[in-house]
Amino acid sequence: MSDPSADIAKVLISEEEIRRRVAELAAQVQSDFAGRDLVVVGLLTGTLMFLADLVREIDLPLRLDFIGVSSYGDGTESRELVFTKELKLDVANRDVLLVDDILDTGKTLRAVINKLGGMTPRQVRTCVLLSKKARREYDIPADYIGFEIPDEFVVGYGLDYAEKYRNLPHIGVLKPELYS
Ligand code: IMP
Ligand code: MG
Repeated sequence: MSDPSADIAKVLISEEEIRRRVAELAAQVQSDFAGRDLVVVGLLTGTLMFLADLVREIDLPLRLDFIGVSSYGDGTESRELVFTKELKLDVANRDVLLVDDILDTGKTLRAVINKLGGMTPRQVRTCVLLSKKARREYDIPADYIGFEIPDEFVVGYGLDYAEKYRNLPHIGVLKPELYS
């Protein structure tokens, strides 16, 4: 296989930009949730890098758990949502910070917010690294947004195309010939 960074047409957000913005988000979360019983819930698998960097910057006694949900098959086309891992922690009466890599149509977060709502948390807030406003189909409140990005398919820093490119340290736009 060739070098994955050779498949990137352009770097949209550099490692340094990501690092700075994640620290800002963490500072906001830290002050908003100080004194709360916080459970951070990451959606697998795309939040891997973001979540690891974010929680290390939050100096609060939080708990960490994951929900597995997948909405994309092999490519860039959306399909039915499937839950692949259930929450393990009890979130009743706790504050939940739901973390996803990217808010696109809103279908994924809507389904997960509905699911969590049935577990009677004190509140659910959402945090996404990226948001593509132009693609929104459901009105999802994103309380913390790292970057608003244009309507382009991006990979890296946890985000994949057909399960590849998650290990790139930056966020980039794939060369269009790779998925057309
Ligand atoms: P939504 O349900 O349409 O909001 O899509 C959210 C999910 O789709 C994210 O958790 C990602 O896994 C995936 N997704 C949406 N846009 C992109 C992208 O540009 N690159 C990689 N994955 C994406
Ligand atoms: Mg995903």
